[in-house]
Amino acid sequence: MEPSTVDLLSRLIKTIDSLIAIGDLQQAEELCNSILVKDENAAAGEFLYRKGLITLKNEQYHDAVVLLTHVAKSNPTNIKFNQELTNALMKAGQHSQENGSLDEARNYYRCAIMINPYHEQAPEALADMDMSGEYYLQVLSQIHEWQKPAAYLEIGVSRGESMTLAKPPTFCIGIDPTPLIKVPFHTETELFKIESDSFFVDQDLPSLLNGRDLDLAFIDGMHTFEQVLRDFINVEKYCHPETLIVLHDCLPLDAITSARNRISGWWTGDVWKVLPCLMKYRPDLAIIIIPAPPSGLGIITRLDAKSKVLEEGYTKFVEEFQGLTFAEFEDIRDSSFNLVANNWEAIEKQIITARG
Ligand SMILES: C[S@@+](CC[C@H](N)C(=O)[O-])C[C@H]1O[C@@H](n2cnc3c(N)ncnc32)[C@H](O)[C@@H]1O
Repeated sequence: MEPSTVDLLSRLIKTIDSLIAIGDLQQAEELCNSILVKDENAAAGEFLYRKGLITLKNEQYHDAVVLLTHVAKSNPTNIKFNQELTNALMKAGQHSQENGSLDEARNYYRCAIMINPYHEQAPEALADMDMSGEYYLQVLSQIHEWQKPAAYLEIGVSRGESMTLAKPPTFCIGIDPTPLIKVPFHTETELFKIESDSFFVDQDLPSLLNGRDLDLAFIDGMHTFEQVLRDFINVEKYCHPETLIVLHDCLPLDAITSARNRISGWWTGDVWKVLPCLMKYRPDLAIIIIPAPPSGLGIITRLDAKSKVLEEGYTKFVEEFQGLTFAEFEDIRDSSFNLVANNWEAIEKQIITARG
């Protein structure tokens, strides 16, 4: 390209940017079109990109997404193009959501996560659509208040935000290989800086409990199906029928944030697969699933410390459920998961009914 042409194109880009900045979108678009009509890929997509920006400002969200997708696809390493595409997807999602087109909105938000797996607002927007009621920590707090556990076991402590919900005289055991405690504990607490598998091999839980009943456990450690299944098997051995085991991240939001291997900022992993596994092979359990933001809670009770079903079938169950896809989750979410409304009255009623 002749230097004079490059010069002309960059001056045109500056003019278009100034027109966009002062809100003269019509003239900005006309200038873009005058170049694009001659060469669609003019200046490596810079003009098409600006046409996308103008279309977005004109609130033609779907068209903007189409244009910016084209630009981003032709320039996959251009961060600015990808950012603007994500921005357009989020705006298109909000617009669809406001108009009640919820499936369309979900698709836009999920595409935003595909473009930027570390996007913070896209998973939040999905959670906002698919979850309801109190935040999971509030529900867990309510469970503590109601159950008044003599002993509480937590796998996956992190900053301590869930552990801090326990109140005296509850005795607490926390397990996390890399805790980053930021909040004070209010109870007598023993923290084990090891992985949960090692804890159950190396530690003698009954002697730690010292005669107290394990009335409540929260499993929120490594977010893979087989690890959560192992955690469940290990915890159940020390439970009585009325113990409550609470599982976090039971309701995933999309394929990327529920991938088995972490490839995103927000990550539920494939914990959810434990639920169809328990439903199929442990019909003796009572399973209550609550759409608590941001990613759902499962409460399991009517536990049987002597049951060997899961331990003996572990390899077979991992094989059977590990390969399930997010699309399969969506198929069963509303039909088989039988979600309980996220308000304490409904949850309490379900727990009491489950206990019989
Ligand atoms: C999502 S965070 C827990 C958040 C916490 N429960 C809360 O609600 O505030 C998950 C934690 O699990 C821990 N973790 C990862 N693998 C683990 C394992 N094998 N056993 C126990 N904890 C594990 C991580 O170190 C991380 O701190």
